[in-house]
Amino acid sequence: MRRAIAQGRVTVDGATVVSAGAQVGPDRTVCIDGQDADYRPHDYLMLHKPAGVVSATEDPRLPTVVGLLPPRYRRRGLFPVGRLDRDTTGLLLLTNDGALAHALMAPGRHVDKVYEVLVEGLLTEADRAAFAAGLALRSGEIFAPAALSVVSSGALSLARLTLREGRHHQIKRMMAARGHEVRALKRISVAQLTLDETLPPGAWRRLSDEETALLRSSLPAPPQPGPPRDHSKRQQKTRI
Ligand code: URA
Repeated sequence: MRRAIAQGRVTVDGATVVSAGAQVGPDRTVCIDGQDADYRPHDYLMLHKPAGVVSATEDPRLPTVVGLLPPRYRRRGLFPVGRLDRDTTGLLLLTNDGALAHALMAPGRHVDKVYEVLVEGLLTEADRAAFAAGLALRSGEIFAPAALSVVSSGALSLARLTLREGRHHQIKRMMAARGHEVRALKRISVAQLTLDETLPPGAWRRLSDEETALLRSSLPAPPQPGPPRDHSKRQQKTRI
């Protein structure tokens, strides 16, 4: 690198570097001979999503999670893996690896997601049992079993809730069905990846290679195909 700098072949965000030794943050683009020196086919970031931003790449009215990233990542087509509500905070992954995002979020292949939820009213053993059994709404909608672990219970109660699914406003609707209004919701993990608590709301960092590998290794196996089909009848038909 020192030699390339001395030869004037290195730029940071388009400006030629004249002396070696400067610290360059991860949001800067370093090029050698015009090529990204840190090129990777895909980017994987964890964001501590703050309240008030939408889980989208663009929005006509509201700030987006992608808008919190430096232009470099916006140009590289990053998008959020799934959605958190505007007022939900916590771990949100952003990537431009469509295959991994799909594997994490495709219906029927959802991985565990852990939330910290603050609700109005006492959370009880009956709530825990109802979530564990799979909650049925009056509308007929049925949620898969979810693990509720109560941290403290009172006029406001705090709990950890582990979900496999990721339906629209799922926790708010589950809690409402049990008579509890959600006051605050924070996602703390997705699969085996936990929010880095050194990241303040609004901050992001790249996943380490180990974290990306962990994410891949925790993906559930794709749905199994059904039993092999007997094609003998179809073959007979074609022969006639
Ligand atoms: N459940 C909700 O109600 N909202 C979220 O943002 C995530 C899960």
